[in-house]
Amino acid sequence: MTTPAALLESGRTLGVIGSGVMGQTLIKGLLEAGLVTRRQIWATAKTQESCDEVAETLGITAVRDYREAAATAGIILVCVKPAQIGAVSAVLRESSLRADVLMISILAGVSTERLESLLRPAENDGPRPVWVRAIPNTPCVVRQGMTAICGGSDATARHLALAERIFSSVGRCTVVEEHYCNAITALSGSGPAYMYLMMEALADAGVRVGLRRHVALELVAQTMLGSARMVLDTGRHPASLRDDVTTPAGCTIGGLLMLEDGKIRSVLARAVEEATRIVEQLGKAAKAG
Ligand SMILES: NC(=O)c1ccc[n+]([C@@H]2O[C@H](COP(=O)([O-])OP(=O)(O)OC[C@H]3O[C@@H](n4cnc5c(N)ncnc54)[C@H](OP(=O)(O)O)[C@@H]3O)[C@@H](O)[C@H]2O)c1
Repeated sequence: MTTPAALLESGRTLGVIGSGVMGQTLIKGLLEAGLVTRRQIWATAKTQESCDEVAETLGITAVRDYREAAATAGIILVCVKPAQIGAVSAVLRESSLRADVLMISILAGVSTERLESLLRPAENDGPRPVWVRAIPNTPCVVRQGMTAICGGSDATARHLALAERIFSSVGRCTVVEEHYCNAITALSGSGPAYMYLMMEALADAGVRVGLRRHVALELVAQTMLGSARMVLDTGRHPASLRDDVTTPAGCTIGGLLMLEDGKIRSVLARAVEEATRIVEQLGKAAKAG
């Protein structure tokens, strides 16, 4: 068995700019997967209080002024809110970033074109950082996330492979073309919220037929988890797996027909369509702003 190459070249660090929910999740995933050591990683947040909390809970260096740290970075993960990217890029422009630093953004709706423009050299002809854009989701917290990544104009297969290793430490990761990003944000980025709504509704249904709520919720959550595993592990079409559960004249077909009467398929499709439309609008507003 060959040992995978180190994520970072010798002496380089991995920086995490913005160590809130997603930033901390990625730091934990990277540490637990052994992709970086605590000495190789640094983080930053807006306030000193947040930096102190991150340093204390994760046992890594967390500094408010990260200009010096940024100069040592081989990879920088940008995990601030989209509205904060202007302030971050102003600091990065003051830092002596290495020419071959890989920048990875998880900012919803911010294109690689926009990200590249933020750190473009004044003369527009010097080296500029390579960007990879990622769309993770919150189950990364329990290392069951789904992340899609795409490369900016200078990203190579090696850059994408590095990003893939990072996000695979907190779940599954797939490489896509950037024009799919809005649809992915609406489907798997927002997806956990749709699943929670369905779980809540099914738990209510369990209560309606006489189950205690905590029992109903456990039954529903594990059923959703198990069904997802069946799809991923067997590679079978969901319709074929559904057929296995649906016995002739049984109760399942009765329940399924009620769901079809309620137009569940088109309601779900319309929900994702609407979310995609809103992400597109947010992206346009961010570009104009
Ligand atoms: N949450 C999700 O479901 C999800 C899913 C996919 C992608 N995303 C993307 O992930 C990004 C982060 O989301 P989140 O939920 O992790 O946000 P969050 O919990 O609010 O964390 C934001 C972090 O950024 C820090 N920060 C703010 N301004 C900064 C600045 N100027 N310089 C350095 N750090 C700064 C904050 O520090 P303080 O604590 O000191 O304010 C905080 O640590 C967003 O762009 C979002 O689009 C989120």
